[in-house]
Parts: sequence; C-alpha cells; structure tokens
Amino acid sequence: MKIAIPKERRPYEKRVAATPDTVKKYRALGYEVQVEAGAGAEASYPDEFYATAGANVIPDAATVLRDADIVLKVQRPMNEGEGRNEVGMIKSGAVLIGMLNPYGARGDLDAYARGNVTAMSMELMPRITRAQSMDVLSSQSNLAGYKAVLDAAEQFGRAFPMMMTAAGTVPPARVLVMGAGVAGLQAIATARRLGAIVSATDVRPVAREQVESLGATFVMVESEETKQAETSGGYAREMSEDYKRRQAELISETIKKQDIVICTALIPGRAAPRLVSEEMLRTMKPGSVIIDLAVEQGGNCALSEPGKIVEAFGVKIVGHRNMPSRIAVDSSALYARNLLNFMTLISAKEGGRLAIDWNDEIIRSITLSRDGGIIHPQFAQATAA
Ligand code: NAI
Repeated sequence: MKIAIPKERRPYEKRVAATPDTVKKYRALGYEVQVEAGAGAEASYPDEFYATAGANVIPDAATVLRDADIVLKVQRPMNEGEGRNEVGMIKSGAVLIGMLNPYGARGDLDAYARGNVTAMSMELMPRITRAQSMDVLSSQSNLAGYKAVLDAAEQFGRAFPMMMTAAGTVPPARVLVMGAGVAGLQAIATARRLGAIVSATDVRPVAREQVESLGATFVMVESEETKQAETSGGYAREMSEDYKRRQAELISETIKKQDIVICTALIPGRAAPRLVSEEMLRTMKPGSVIIDLAVEQGGNCALSEPGKIVEAFGVKIVGHRNMPSRIAVDSSALYARNLLNFMTLISAKEGGRLAIDWNDEIIRSITLSRDGGIIHPQFAQATAA
C-alpha cells in the first residue's frame, strides 16, 4: 500500500506528518511512501533526507494523493469551499489520518463520507495507557507549554531568575499558569528552570499534587463542585456561574502580584473558559506579559487576539496562533512518532498492509467516517439531528 505525505498548506503551519526517520520505519513495514516536494522544508527536513530514507519525492500534491491508500496529515485537508479541494484529491476508499478538528469543522465530515474516505482524527485518541504513545494532544501541548514560556521571556523586559550582582539585586519573575494540564505542567517546569517563582491554578483537584511536585504553588477554589470537575476522560467540565465568580475573585487577588501569566485552560469541544477579565488586566503591573495559548478557542484572557500581540494598560497580551508549529522540528518529530505508533497498531507485521481491528477502543474512538457514512457516535447523531 502507498502512504502519502502532502505538504501542509494552512496558514501558520510549519509541521509535517512524517520525518525521514518515520519514513524509514514505514518502508520497513513494507509500505511505499510518497512525499510531496517541500513537505518538510519548514521543519528543517529537506527532500533529500526523505529520498534517502526510501520515499518517492513527488513535485505536486495531486499526484502524491491520487493513488495513495493512506494519507497522513498534520491538519485537516482543505475543502472545496477553501479554494483548494484537497479532500477531493483523496481517492475513494483511502484512509486519512490527522488532527481533523471534527468539533471545529463538522462540515468536513460530510465531505469525507461523500468521498468514501475513512477519516481518523488523532485528537480523539482516548487517554488510556495503551494509547499514550499515540497521544498527539499531549505531545503537541507539552511543546506548546515550553514555547509559551520562552515567548513570554522574549516579551518581558526583565529577567526570570533572581540575580545578586554588585550593581544590585534583580528580583525573580512571578509566573502564574492557568490550567495545569499537559501544556500547563510543562510551562511550570520551564518557568521554574528559568528561575521564576511559579504558581498555578486548575479546577481539577488532582492537579494540586502534580503542580506541587514541580515546585510551584497551587491556588484553587475548592468546593463540592470540584469533586466532579474532571470527566471520566480526565478533562475539565464547564463550571457553574457561582464557581466562576469565586474563581474570578481568587484570580483577581493573585494576578496583581504576577509578572507573567501563561493561559492554557481548555474544555474539549467548547469555548475556552474566560479567566482573565479586562478589570484584572488593569490591576497588573506595567510590563507584565500574558501568553494566551487558548486564543484559538476563544481565549482565556479578555482582549487577546489570534495572531496578534495586543498592548493594553501596559500589559502585553500575546495570542500567537498554532504554538506547536513555532517549534516545528520537535513538534513534527513527536507528531510523526505518534502517527507511526498508531500506524503500527493498524498495520500487518509485514507486507505493507492495513489490518484494522474495528472493535478496538482506540479505533472506535477516533474513526469519524467509513464506508460512505459518518460513523462516530458523537458526530453521526449531531448530523442526524
Ligand atoms: P486540556 O488541554 O483540555 O485543558 C488544560 C487544562 O485546563 C486542564 O488541566 C483543565 O483541567 C484546565 N481547565 C479547564 N477549565 C479550567 C478553568 N475554568 N480554570 C482553570 N483550569 C481549567 O487538558 P490536557 O492538558 O489535555 O489534559 C487533560 C487531562 O488528561 C489531565 O488530567 C492530564 O493529566 C490527562 N492526561 C492523561 C494522559 C493519559 O493518561 N494517557 C495523557 C495526557 C493527559
């Protein structure tokens, strides 16, 4: 069977779905691999490396996709309405695997079904031990959390660590991390390594131990409600209005003393919770920096804008899009590994063939469409409704 690696064409996307290293592994499994010329260029993986690894480097996307049985992508392919119909280039019966954003792009599911494409969305990977090596949200969020702190350091006019010099003492920076999931925990670790005094908040009480084990202080509104704040999948629920009010009071008190705020709080399938209000921004010290990693889901911080650095009341509010792409070499390498681990699960040991167990929890969780229909229970119902 043939695997296609087309170039990513969405704005702000520098990542690639396979590295020369994973191409070599696909060849060892018996697959043919076709890479579009330039697919890895922005992540510093030149065409020659793919060719040396055993891929066929092809100049255009249409030829790469036309006869491919498996298409590996970072982001969802473009659709008819976007001026370039990549979905239409995928052959009937092919398997498409990528971060397909089914919540944000439900219309694409119909296009996959119409084109008889078996679409598998890696963001829906269940958070079970067996699937950890395929967990793209974790691999990408981890790097995003790291990069967010470096971006904050770049915008901040002061140092992170305390420095005692002959000319005087430089005080350490104070960093607050909102949301102590994968990105938040890495942000805490990175800020601590740089010498900052770090605190963090979350709605899941289990986050306390993880935050404290990284040497940060945990601040949280504890209530009966937080006992149910975590879903069976490990994610956060949306909290009640009363909780939100109490949480806002706590954040108002805490944020005044901070220099840097890293916002990472998300609720799957919903808008990001708004945690930093305009009033809170007014109380922050001039020169403070906010990095809103949730900006593309609506933002945790008031006034943050996707793709912009907004300055308000002397505070810089940074809304970089696609944070993992800003560290594209490593994020591509980890993402490509996640895909390879998944492909290994669904491949025969040799002969370059798929051998998919449709009853496997992992497959059932991530398959959106198959045999010309939308089969994922969550999205099939929504479509029927
Ligand atoms: P996420 O990206 O959906 O959200 C980030 C963080 O924001 C979460 O910690 C969430 O609790 C927090 N949050 C949501 N609403 C908030 C609010 N109103 N105020 C403050 N914080 C808020 O979550 P992520 O990073 O994907 O991790 C979710 C969970 O999955 C965690 O419990 C993590 O430890 C777990 N996990 C488990 C894995 C496994 O067992 N294979 C792998 C990776 C993560």
